[in-house]
Amino acid sequence: MRFFLLFLLAPMAAVALDLTEQQRADIEARIQPFSAVCVQGETCGGGEVMADAAGRSGEDVYNGACMACHAAGIAGAPKVGDQVAWVDRIAKGMDALYDSGINGVAGTGMIARGGCADCSDDEIRWAVDYMVDSSR
Ligand code: HEC
Repeated sequence: MRFFLLFLLAPMAAVALDLTEQQRADIEARIQPFSAVCVQGETCGGGEVMADAAGRSGEDVYNGACMACHAAGIAGAPKVGDQVAWVDRIAKGMDALYDSGINGVAGTGMIARGGCADCSDDEIRWAVDYMVDSSR
């Protein structure tokens, strides 16, 4: 019995010892992105679903949904990159701006989610971050 266990464990120990610290770090780095996606609670291992779980970037959402008004400043929209147009808005704080992005600004052309019905709250926040970062 003891002989059998040794026989079984010896190869495993040899494999573990063969890994240098660098190899170990490489393996952990390679595994890490997958485990990070799985932790978010969405389907693990499906390429498309992983992309959805991560969401579109703020820049993607901006280009798809917000640029139509905010690139040129249509209908009184603060133009992205125009620091003067944004300074008072930025002073209200990011939460107020996220709220405007998600719920719209009543009585203006700023409709809820800028009209992007399938944008998540987070995607709208990232788009607002992108617009503000580009307008400071
Ligand atoms: C149909 C045109 C239009 C589209 C599309 C649009 N906006 Fe706006 N947006 C406006 C207008 C007009 C204002 C100015 C509202 C006002 O008078 O405060 C505005 C203002 C804002 C503000 C500042 C609000 C505040 O509280 O000062 C934010 C943030 C904003 N938009 C985010 C977005 C985001 C994010 C998108 C895309 C998801 C988007 N907008 C798409 C027209 C638009």
